[in-house]
Amino acid sequence: MKSAFYLSALTLLLLAGCGSTQQKSTRHYDGEALAKQKCSRCHNLDMPPKTSDKEIAPPLYTVTVHLKDWMKTPTPDLQRQKFIDFLADYVIHPSREKSYCDPKSLKLYGLMPSQKGKVTPDEVRAIAAWAYDTYDQMKMLAVMKERNRLAAMPPWKQVLETRDCRSCHIIGAGKLAPSFPQIARKYAGDPDALKKIEASILHGSKGKWPRFKVPMRAYKGLTPKQLDGIARWILERNASSSANAADTSR
Ligand code: HEC
Ligand code: HEC
Repeated sequence: MKSAFYLSALTLLLLAGCGSTQQKSTRHYDGEALAKQKCSRCHNLDMPPKTSDKEIAPPLYTVTVHLKDWMKTPTPDLQRQKFIDFLADYVIHPSREKSYCDPKSLKLYGLMPSQKGKVTPDEVRAIAAWAYDTYDQMKMLAVMKERNRLAAMPPWKQVLETRDCRSCHIIGAGKLAPSFPQIARKYAGDPDALKKIEASILHGSKGKWPRFKVPMRAYKGLTPKQLDGIARWILERNASSSANAADTSR
C-alpha cells in the first residue's frame, strides 16, 4: 500500500512538471519570485548576465559576484550572513558611503533609489539568500557548459533534452508512459509511422495505449523539422533498444 501511495505521489510530481503551472513553493518566501517581482524592473536577473548600453542598473549576477569578492569574512557562512544583512539594509537605506559600487559605475547608474515601502526587509532577506546561492561563478560555468552542449545538438534533440518528455518516457517508462522503444516497436513496418508519431506529439495522444490511462498533452508549437527529427529518433529506438536498453537520448 505504501509503495502504491509513493508511486502515485511520484506520478503527481512528474505530472506537475508537464503543465505550465509552476510548482508552489513550500517556503514562506520565494526569493526568486520576489526578485522577479521587486528587482527585475531595474536589475537583469539572467545568468549569464545580460548587459546593455541602456541598462539602468547592473545585473544582479554582477552585483552579487562583486559583493562576494569584496566582502571578506573568516568563513563562507559568515559571508552569506553578511551579504544578506547588507542587502536588507542597502535596499531600504542606500547611500554612497555604504555602496560597494565603484565610483565610476555609481556615477553611471546613479544611486539606487530606496525601495522602502515596496519591499519588506524579510523579503529582501529571502531575495538575498536566493541571489547568494544562485549567482556563483562555478554555477555560471556549469550553466554555460550546458548551454553549449545543447547548442551543439540539432534542434529536435534540444526539444527532447529540454522538454519534459524524459520524465514520462524514459524515467517513468512502463509506469507513466510507453517507453520510446515500445512506441518504435508498435509502429515497426507501418508506412505512415512518421506521420502518426508526429501527429501524436503535436496534437496529444489519448487511448492509443490503454495501459496508460492518462492522456498525453499536445505539444503545439513544435516545428515540422523538430517533429520529424524526434519521430525518426523514436523509430530508431527499435533497432537499438534490445542492445542498449539503458540508452536514453544520447
Ligand atoms: C529603480 C531601480 C532599482 C530597483 C527597483 C532595484 N535596484 Fe538595486 N540598484 C539600482 C541601481 C541604479 C544600482 C547601482 C547603484 C548603487 O549601487 O546604488 C543598484 C545597486 C544594487 C546593489 C549594489 C549595492 C552596492 O554595493 O552598490 C544591490 C545589492 C541591489 N541593488 C539590490 C537590489 C535588490 C535586492 C532589489 C529588489 C528588492 C533592487 N536592488 C531593486 C537600481 C534598482
Ligand atoms: C505526462 C507524461 C508524458 C509526457 C511529459 C510526454 N508523454 Fe508522450 N505519452 C504519454 C502517455 C501516457 C502516452 C500514451 C497515451 C495514449 O494512450 O495514447 C504517450 C504517448 C506518446 C507517443 C505515442 C503515441 C502513439 O501514437 O502511439 C509518442 C510518440 C510520445 N508520447 C512522444 C512524446 C514526446 C516527444 C514528448 C515530449 C515532447 C512526450 N511524449 C511527453 C505520456 C507523456
